[in-house]
Order: sequence, then structure tokens, then C-alpha cells
Amino acid sequence: MNIAIIGGSGGIGQAFVEQLAAQPHVQHIHATYHHNEPEFTHPKVNWEQLDITQESSIQAWSEWPSELDWLINAAGILHNTTQGPEKSIRQFEPEFFLENIKINSIPTLLLAKNVHKKFRHGRPAIFATISAKVGSIADNRLGGWYSYRASKAALNMCLKSLAIEWQRTLPNVTVAALHPGTTDTALSRPFQKNVPKDQLFSPDQSVSYMLNVLEGLKPDKSGKFWAFDGELLPW
Ligand SMILES: NC(=O)c1ccc[n+]([C@@H]2O[C@H](COP(=O)([O-])OP(=O)(O)OC[C@H]3O[C@@H](n4cnc5c(N)ncnc54)[C@H](OP(=O)(O)O)[C@@H]3O)[C@@H](O)[C@H]2O)c1
Repeated sequence: MNIAIIGGSGGIGQAFVEQLAAQPHVQHIHATYHHNEPEFTHPKVNWEQLDITQESSIQAWSEWPSELDWLINAAGILHNTTQGPEKSIRQFEPEFFLENIKINSIPTLLLAKNVHKKFRHGRPAIFATISAKVGSIADNRLGGWYSYRASKAALNMCLKSLAIEWQRTLPNVTVAALHPGTTDTALSRPFQKNVPKDQLFSPDQSVSYMLNVLEGLKPDKSGKFWAFDGELLPW
């Protein structure tokens, strides 16, 4: 299998790279980082720099893999150096909303647009992005987090539309949105204090759960939103 891990330098992304590199049926991993190349090296892993907000960067990167069996996009933001998820509408800033959309929603469409040819081999394949349960409109009970929630809801809609299009044009590909569970990474660290210990996963835990889900996916399950434990989440 040839696999691409986008955002392979993040907590969840790097755990995907490490666990998949250890699997005998995986031949090659095209892993991307944004700012700093990770220290993790492995004969199967190639690190490439990629800014997912720049189509030219995605286009140039997409020349590398000849074929792909899986692509997992694990890049995303919840906060930046000055702003975090809004507790109240009083904190809403259009620029932060747009930054969330730019990093959490649009890149999946740009990736699909630029890599679709790499899935034309006809073997069962997977195109997945790490979403978040807080992007579920049906499941939203607490409110707040306007920018992040909306960016993940938009991402989910994009994945659903892509799944419908690819059922016609790339029927071997399963498109999936994944919820990793609350995972101990730089992204969630400022927001972990109310999370019960048994509900806070290490990146390795969360990724081994998600790999179980991914391994069970077949094209007839395309266009769905899966939690780490295999639960089907409502949009
Ligand atoms: N951790 C959780 O509890 C949790 C829960 C639900 C969903 N998620 C989702 O899981 C995904 C992974 O999150 P994580 O927890 O692993 O966070 P993380 O450790 O902060 O990793 C985020 C990754 O995204 C990359 N990234 C951000 N902007 C980018 C850009 N413009 N171009 C390329 N890469 C970019 C980062 O690279 P740089 O650091 O170099 O910018 C980093 O590799 C995110 O989509 C997040 O929303 C996480």
C-alpha cells in the first residue's frame, strides 16, 4: 500500500505515520509537515514540506506519489497564538473564522482535486480527513466554538459531496470523515481540564482505534462520519 499522511508532523498525524510504517503491507508513506520536519525517520517514509492553504503547494506535492491506496488528512487548527475557540458570540472575529475555514475545510477539497488521478488504479482505496464530533450539527448541545464547529461542519459537507461524486467516477474510493476522540496533542492541550482521564487518549491510542475503523471500511460505506470506536456519527 502507498499512503499519504497530510499533517504528519502533528500529534495525530505522526502517530499515523509511525504506526503505518510498522505495518508489513505498507510499502511507502508520503508524509507532510508544515513548519518543522519531524525527527522520526523510517526507510518507508518520505517527508515533504506542504502548506495546505496553498493550492500551488498541494499541486507540486501531488506530483510525488505515483499511486495512492490511502490518503489521510490530519492537518488542522483549533487555536492560533492569539485566538482560540469562542466561548461567546462577543469573541467572534471574521478573520479567525476564515482562518479555520482555510485550514480545516478547504484543503480537503484541494487535495481531492489534485490527487484524484492517483486513485484510478481500481483497488479499494480510502480518502479520509480528521474531522471532529463538535462539527456535527445534530450533536451540538453546548454551543460556542463558532469558527471551529462551522469549519468542521463545512468539511463534513464537502466530504459528503465528494463521496457522492466519486461513487460515480472513482467507485473504488471510500471517502470518510473521522472523529479521533479527545487526544492529547498541542491542539487540545489548552482545553483538556474538564476531560475525564479515561476519555483523553494518547495519539497512539486514538490512531490505533481509527486504523481499526479504516481497515473495516469498504466503498459501500463511503460518505459517512465515523468516531474512533466505529460509531456512526450524525451529521
Ligand atoms: N486533538 C484532539 O483532541 C482532536 C479532537 C478532534 C479532532 N481533532 C482534529 O485532528 C486533526 C489533527 O489534530 P492534532 O490534535 O494532531 O493537532 P496538532 O498536533 O496541532 O497537529 C496539527 C497539524 O496540522 C498542521 N497544519 C496546520 N496548519 C497547516 C498548514 N497551513 N499547512 C500544513 N499543515 C498545517 C500542523 O503543522 P504545523 O504545526 O507545522 O503548522 C500540524 O502538523 C485536526 O484536524 C483536529 O481538528 C483533534
